[in-house]
Amino acid sequence: MLLLCWIALFGLSYAATQAPLLSVVPEDGFRVVQSKHSPNHSIRIRQQNDSICAAGSPQYTGWLDVGPKHLFFWYFESQNDPASDPLTLWMTGGPGDSSMIGLFEEIGPCLINEHGNGTYHNPWAWSRNSSLLFVDQPVDVGFSYIDEGHELPRDSQEAAVDMHRFLQLFISEVFPHKLSASIHLSGESYAGKYIPYLGAQIVQQNKLYPSEPQVRLKSCLVGNGFMSPKDSAFGYWETLCTTNPGVSEPVFNKTRCDIMAANMPRCMDVAEICVKNPDPAVCHAALSVCYEGVVGWYDDEAGKGGRNRFDITAPCEIDEMCYIQAARIEQYLNSPAVWDALSPPKQIKEYKFVADSVIHAFDKTSDGMTSQSDLVAFLLANQVHFLAYQGNLDLACNTAGNLRWAHALSWKGQVEFTSKSLRPWTSVVAATGEKETVGSAKEVQVRMSDSADIESRFAFVTVDGAGHLLPQDRPDVALDMMVRWISGAPFG
Ligand SMILES: *[C@@H]1O[C@H](CO)[C@@H](O)[C@H](O)[C@H]1NC(C)=O
Ligand SMILES: *[C@@H]1O[C@H](CO)[C@@H](O)[C@H](O)[C@H]1NC(C)=O
Ligand SMILES: *[C@@H]1O[C@H](CO)[C@@H](O)[C@H](O)[C@H]1NC(C)=O
Ligand SMILES: *[C@@H]1O[C@H](CO)[C@@H](O)[C@H](O)[C@H]1NC(C)=O
Ligand SMILES: *[C@@H]1O[C@H](CO)[C@@H](O)[C@H](O)[C@H]1NC(C)=O
Repeated sequence: MLLLCWIALFGLSYAATQAPLLSVVPEDGFRVVQSKHSPNHSIRIRQQNDSICAAGSPQYTGWLDVGPKHLFFWYFESQNDPASDPLTLWMTGGPGDSSMIGLFEEIGPCLINEHGNGTYHNPWAWSRNSSLLFVDQPVDVGFSYIDEGHELPRDSQEAAVDMHRFLQLFISEVFPHKLSASIHLSGESYAGKYIPYLGAQIVQQNKLYPSEPQVRLKSCLVGNGFMSPKDSAFGYWETLCTTNPGVSEPVFNKTRCDIMAANMPRCMDVAEICVKNPDPAVCHAALSVCYEGVVGWYDDEAGKGGRNRFDITAPCEIDEMCYIQAARIEQYLNSPAVWDALSPPKQIKEYKFVADSVIHAFDKTSDGMTSQSDLVAFLLANQVHFLAYQGNLDLACNTAGNLRWAHALSWKGQVEFTSKSLRPWTSVVAATGEKETVGSAKEVQVRMSDSADIESRFAFVTVDGAGHLLPQDRPDVALDMMVRWISGAPFG
């Protein structure tokens, strides 16, 4: 998140059905599940209670061990019907940002309190109608760690291989009642990169190894995704120089907007060269042209006490993330109570919400610059639905830019999708109890081939009055959107 989405540097009641887990609890409280399919994969898992996270449904934490790599997870059973509800994975972006941001600040069943010393129950948690799995990935993010002397993954593909194995082991051997569940991949920002790679890896592995446990991937939900740095840079002008994001006055005055408009064609020309030749040298040159000419006019003034790249109407309270909650999460997760409950091994000295090591590893490749559009098209071709949702006040991965990306996506549904206009959608808003227009949406459903048994659904859904962290800003609307999506309901 350090720099930008556009640059890529991101970035109740207990259910009756309990998993057949923890029958034998060893001394350290962790049960170890060794994969039958992959000798080098195992999961260490222990149950937690509401004392550290006021979840309102059974919860478990632990690590996936893949050779020298150890990925941390926090898992919540669905509050509704864990036996038949789907499983949703959440990944925060970056690269390098901890998924604990998503858990404690956005969609988790417990949210960080204002003192940073405890949590409170979130009535709008995405675990209301789905089991919910948060993973700190790629390895070295958050509570994840790597043994000394080993190299970190440098791109989304490498990270996806580990995550596929993780899901496969998790649903087949740790929680086998999830083997028949629909799986959804969700996340925000740079997860717009991780998710297509992971989705494609799952589809390919299912096809290659039909006798191994299949991950029944049903859809992807990408929030303010890092889909195309070029389009996001283009969208800077509309976001800052018009009232389209839902502001009464444009953020920038005419002088600045004229300068940005004049610089835009050259930024687009060089960015296009990077898209066609994603060599780090070419792309860094393109980034600097776009930064100096367009993006820097805002981003140079962003940071603590200045402008907020994740919400053009909000202040920026702390560096990098802007939101004070991130600092509170860091404080809380480093507290003795949490440390006792999670029992991180001694290799982990301290929890941090952003891992500089991962940012640097990804910096060495073109991961942030290469396009994942082909992978999204591949997923749609394989009957995996795709939702791009957007908080309209975000600048980093702005609505204007991602709509441009969605229109440019080359697949069978493209012509129909581009021919439609965005239409308002309504939701019952908690504050008023009234049905209100909360944003706009459009979608298509396309049968991709004669052999396809279902239509592939592609939707673009926006929410007004929300920034990059949409579920933080409008939790009730975000939950309505999520439940509609996973249950196949329309946006109207
Ligand atoms: C398991 O790990 C060992 C040692 O790191 C390695 O030699 C072996 O190739 C791995 N096996 C698989 C199936 O990945
Ligand atoms: C979501 O959970 C609620 C509460 O258990 C239930 O009433 C509702 O039917 C569920 N919705 C869907 C779409 O499964
Ligand atoms: C959290 O901090 C507040 C304010 O300092 C205090 O009143 C409260 O007792 C603390 N809670 C816990 C669980 O320590
Ligand atoms: C436009 O905005 C910039 C930055 O806030 C400011 O320095 C400049 O004076 C403004 N120009 C006009 C004509 O208001
Ligand atoms: C809840 O978990 C904490 C930390 O692991 C533990 O100290 C406490 O005894 C547990 N409480 C109950 C009721 O199990």
